[in-house]
Formats: sequence, C-alpha cells, structure tokens
Amino acid sequence: MLKPLPKIGILGSGSGSNFASIARAIAETRLHAEIALVLSDNPEAGILKKASALNIPAEALPQSKFRTKLEPEIEALAAEKLIMAGVEWVVLAGYMRLIKAPLLERFPNRVINIHPSLLPAFPGLEAWTQALEAKATVTGCTVHWVDAGMDTGEIIAQAKVHVLESDTPASLHARIQVAEHTLYPATLERLLHPEVHR
Ligand code: GRF
Repeated sequence: MLKPLPKIGILGSGSGSNFASIARAIAETRLHAEIALVLSDNPEAGILKKASALNIPAEALPQSKFRTKLEPEIEALAAEKLIMAGVEWVVLAGYMRLIKAPLLERFPNRVINIHPSLLPAFPGLEAWTQALEAKATVTGCTVHWVDAGMDTGEIIAQAKVHVLESDTPASLHARIQVAEHTLYPATLERLLHPEVHR
C-alpha cells in the first residue's frame, strides 16, 4: 500500500519564489509531499496569490500590531489552522517574523527555515548586503531548524554562492535565490523521507 504524502504548511511574507520552487519540485516528483496550507502575515504577499493560482489553500493571518513577531493569540491561531489542515512539517519561506512558543510547542523539531547566507554568518535582514559590506568572497544559503532566536537553530544543509566583484545587492540576492530554489526542496525531501535517502 502506498504511504500517504507528508503534509507541509508554508509560512511566507513575500514574493513566494521559494514556495514556488517547492510546489514545482512536488509537481515534478522530486519532493514527495503535499502542501496542505499556505499562511501569510501579509495579505498582499505574492505567496498567497501564487498558492491560490495553484489551487492550494492560502490564507492571510489577522493583522499583527508587532513588526518582528506575531501576538501569541495570532500565532496560536496559525498553529491551530496548520493542525486542522493536517500539517506535520512547518516550512518557512521568506517569513519575516520570529517564531515563538505557540508554534514551536505544537510543532517540536518540525519547523524549518531557509536563510540567504552561510549561517552563522550574517543572520537577520538583507544577509546578501551584509555579505557585500563584509567583503565576503563566498556566501550562500542555509536550511536550518527553527528555534525562538533569529536564524540561530541547528544547521541542516548549506549551499555556497561565490560573490563577484561586480555584484550589487540585487544581483547577489538573485544568485543566492537560485541556489535556494534547489537546496530547499532537495533538503526537504531528505528530511521527510530519511528512510529513502540514507
Ligand atoms: C529568501 O531569500 C529567503 O532566504 C529569505 O527571504 C527570501 C524570500 O524570498 N528568508 P521568497 O519570498 O521565497 O521569494
């Protein structure tokens, strides 16, 4: 008998290119999973439009009065929605707020993020600009477990991107994103199906 596909929930605040790369990997059977729900803290986010266009359930969360995290009640509501959708793995894809206890306690060791640098270097915002300002010659992206800190959870996988002398913040970010779009789906496949990818 075929095993049911693991259900993932995706949280994002922005354009949703990482979401799109995950959806594409699923369609191309490089990633064996089902996206059960997409949630965003930003009702205008491209990720919601991209998910709806693929007929994937997508919802905006109620407006939060904080900028860097959700109110505990809103985060608990997000966790409730994910649980109701049968989500087993929470995948952050350009989600711009810290995750706190209401979600972490309901999904212990099940929340994953991708960050556009080789952590622990350059945590936080605009990691590509930080890399340019530090005159780094190599940067990249990191898939990591999420804890309550900012980009501090245990590292799962990384991909390097060389910095070019001609790079601008936009050109470097664009090349890091290309690396993200390969690394994230491939890493999720290994995490969700460890028995197949020893
Ligand atoms: C990515 O660079 C990701 O590493 C960071 O935010 C960006 C999101 O981009 N956390 P997108 O919304 O997936 O296009």
